[in-house]
Amino acid sequence: MSSAVEVRKPFAVRPLTPKLGAEISGVSLAEEITPDLFRSIYDAFLRYQVLLFPPQDVPPGRQVAFARHFGEVQIHIMNQYHADGFPELYRLSNLDEKGNPNGRHPDKGTLSWHTDGSWSRVTGQATIIYGEVMPDTGGETHFCDMYGAYERLDPAWKARIADMRAVHNLDFSRTRRHGEDLMTAEQRAARPPVDHPIVRTHPETGRKCIYLGDHAESIVGMPYAEGRALIEELNALAVHPDLTYEHRWKAGELLVWDNRCVMHRATPYDPATQRRVIRRCTVLGEVPV
Ligand SMILES: [Fe+2]
Repeated sequence: MSSAVEVRKPFAVRPLTPKLGAEISGVSLAEEITPDLFRSIYDAFLRYQVLLFPPQDVPPGRQVAFARHFGEVQIHIMNQYHADGFPELYRLSNLDEKGNPNGRHPDKGTLSWHTDGSWSRVTGQATIIYGEVMPDTGGETHFCDMYGAYERLDPAWKARIADMRAVHNLDFSRTRRHGEDLMTAEQRAARPPVDHPIVRTHPETGRKCIYLGDHAESIVGMPYAEGRALIEELNALAVHPDLTYEHRWKAGELLVWDNRCVMHRATPYDPATQRRVIRRCTVLGEVPV
């Protein structure tokens, strides 16, 4: 009698860099994800921080359903971007009604290193992006490991920022970066500035990381200019080639990342000649500590 039991991994994992990122193949996101399968995906999410699913058809409703496994899905305050009848989805596109490039970048704020939803008291946990249309050049997404960024700091830096809090403000980052498509008075009133610790402890892994990025405007209890200088210095210090993964998209790919321990940015593309359409969904996490 054979006692052999076939143990099957639910998917294949291929690390994308030594530090962060992994490609997950063998999962069909268009189908219902079972709780067991999701647990395995979530373990990989905590381990690798950024997950890449290879090209496949993921209809908008399936993207939202997948996101709900992670937690409560954010309804973004910038409601002009809501997509496909799903207020949970935020579409960034440079196409006109005929599908031609309109020459306008849909959100220049994404070009600077940031972490999604840091301007909110309850910040972003996972962001899930589906690439509908991708340009031939540019429009990449870059990621940086914020655990590694913290670990690289010398003891003097660690001691200096140990108890500091930064004020994050969506109105600040949008206005100063491009001054286009500003928040309405109503949107501004709904999203007043909030403060978070600069050194954050990930609620699930227990590891410390730097929590800053482009929405961080000032430091609590510090003169404005001094706080600005410190934020700029730390944001620059955090990004290091050994800690980054630069993703060049193929249409149909889906990326998920953990905003609690990763910063990201998009790279520019020519919105007059190239087409780029993504669908984004952010899952709410917790108040950082
Ligand atoms: Fe983002």
